[in-house]
Amino acid sequence: MWQSGAMDSAHVDSDLVNILFTEEQIQAKLQEMAHTIAADYEGKDLLMVGVLRGAVMVMADLARSLPCHLEMDWMAVSSYGSGTKSSGVVRILKDLDTDISGRHVLIVDEIIDTGLTLSWLVNNLSSRKPASVEIATLLRKPEALAMPIEPKYVGWDIPNEFVVGYGLDFKERYRNLRDIGTLAPHVYS
Ligand code: PRP
Repeated sequence: MWQSGAMDSAHVDSDLVNILFTEEQIQAKLQEMAHTIAADYEGKDLLMVGVLRGAVMVMADLARSLPCHLEMDWMAVSSYGSGTKSSGVVRILKDLDTDISGRHVLIVDEIIDTGLTLSWLVNNLSSRKPASVEIATLLRKPEALAMPIEPKYVGWDIPNEFVVGYGLDFKERYRNLRDIGTLAPHVYS
């Protein structure tokens, strides 16, 4: 049944095993990250590259937490099918509109799982002669990591569980959930 108000974990209670991070915790973490980024990029022109579609929420909130001018661009790549398993294939669905040569690029994503997507993306963007390429990710799953990848900014390391919310989906659902939670196995099995 339709309920008024934003989608918080109470709306999808039975679909979640637990809530990992509340909206408040996420916002506080992004402000902390923004503080560090602002100091690191002081005097540099920052180009934030969001990885569609999951990074939309992180990009919106991280960018608005930064007290400096910045540009945003977006890439869409495909690394997963509609389920929970990585296909091992990365392809560009939408490329940047910006020429990044000489630019300071900060890739923004919501999660590093196997690391396949972002290690591929770092290599791809590095070949375009940017001044620098770094990664900011809200979440990382150290146990799932299959590629060498060193994000400069990480919000939290989390267990290797299926998480949804705040941009993270299962079959395109739950992206608008304001918290981040662990999906109950009965939803995806
Ligand atoms: C997610 C996420 C990362 C990637 C991480 O995107 O946004 O880009 O998976 O997984 P990896 O480290 O195993 O490569 P996804 O392909 O699910 O697309 P989406 O952003 O549209 O949800």
